Amino acid sequence: MSVIRSWLFVPGDSERKLAKGRGNVADALILDLEDAVSDDRQDVAREMVRAFLKDNPDRSRQQLWVRINPLDTELSLPDLAAVMPGAPDGIVLPKVYSADDVDTLANYLDALETREGLELGVTKILSVATETAASLLTFDSYLDGVTERLTGMTWGAEDLAAALGASDNRNFATGDYEDPFLLAKSLCLAACRAIEVQPVGAVVTDFRDLTALEADCLRDRRTGFVGKIAIHPDQAGVINRAFTPTDDEVAYAQKVVDMFEQNPGMGTVGVDGKMLDMPHLKQARNVLALAALIKALD
Ligand code: COA
Ligand code: MG
Repeated sequence: MSVIRSWLFVPGDSERKLAKGRGNVADALILDLEDAVSDDRQDVAREMVRAFLKDNPDRSRQQLWVRINPLDTELSLPDLAAVMPGAPDGIVLPKVYSADDVDTLANYLDALETREGLELGVTKILSVATETAASLLTFDSYLDGVTERLTGMTWGAEDLAAALGASDNRNFATGDYEDPFLLAKSLCLAACRAIEVQPVGAVVTDFRDLTALEADCLRDRRTGFVGKIAIHPDQAGVINRAFTPTDDEVAYAQKVVDMFEQNPGMGTVGVDGKMLDMPHLKQARNVLALAALIKALD
């Protein structure tokens, strides 16, 4: 599994924001052709995104992804045809109904990569997996086998609220997500882990509140998400920090792994007065693996 901590959305038709995004610490930009672009700016945005991709072929520090329009609109194919000459690192697919949509996109990419002389399969896919009502009932479709291009899935509560007929996605008293949205979050995480792709945390729309963002990142990380969507440049640094295991966490994980390795054949050990067994060893190994992946990024 590769890892991208911060995924910053940049409206595809804003010269200023594209330049700003490129100078930002985000591990990846998502050049948006969907909701951030008005219908009359679609052609302009496609041209700008294509030019931006071509002008920025070095992706070693920051990957460049593109969010296209949903496959059930007439915009999606022209979006893809316009941006593939710029060899985006990946495509973000919105309003997904099931894994079939992801496979359909993979087929389109086969054709377009061939047209562009790109290596077959290099373009990855991030599915925005919870934006339709049906999507909550089709998560098992990912387990039937899905294109290897799919490297991550994320969830969101904004479009889903509209799809479910909700007037709000948060409890007015506590500010926490209401049940249907937590269900979406949990299903997304489980599906990602079942097929070993990166579970990416949802956007925090209140972009001025970096304290709330950090708390949400830490909550995401504790539950198993890796990385998060951002909509404002100030959010990326917070996300990068929050998803990087701290030195203390790495040291503790190493201690747990060492204890088990020094006591082969033992299923349970005591560390710092706590009983640890196999699930804890796996968690410790996860922390070390994540830390190693992130180290490789820098
Ligand atoms: N990417 C790159 N640069 C961005 C940016 C983004 N997502 N959001 C803001 N900036 C830039 C602004 O242009 C401004 O640059 P400047 O100082 O050179 O003018 C600077 O960062 C500070 O922006 P700020 O004034 O704090 O915010 P804003 O009011 O200009 O913009 C939003 C607020 C929400 C409109 C903007 O953050 C945005 O467009 N976000 C992305 C929206 C999107 O793509 N949504 C679809 C996915 S849900
Ligand atoms: Mg949207």
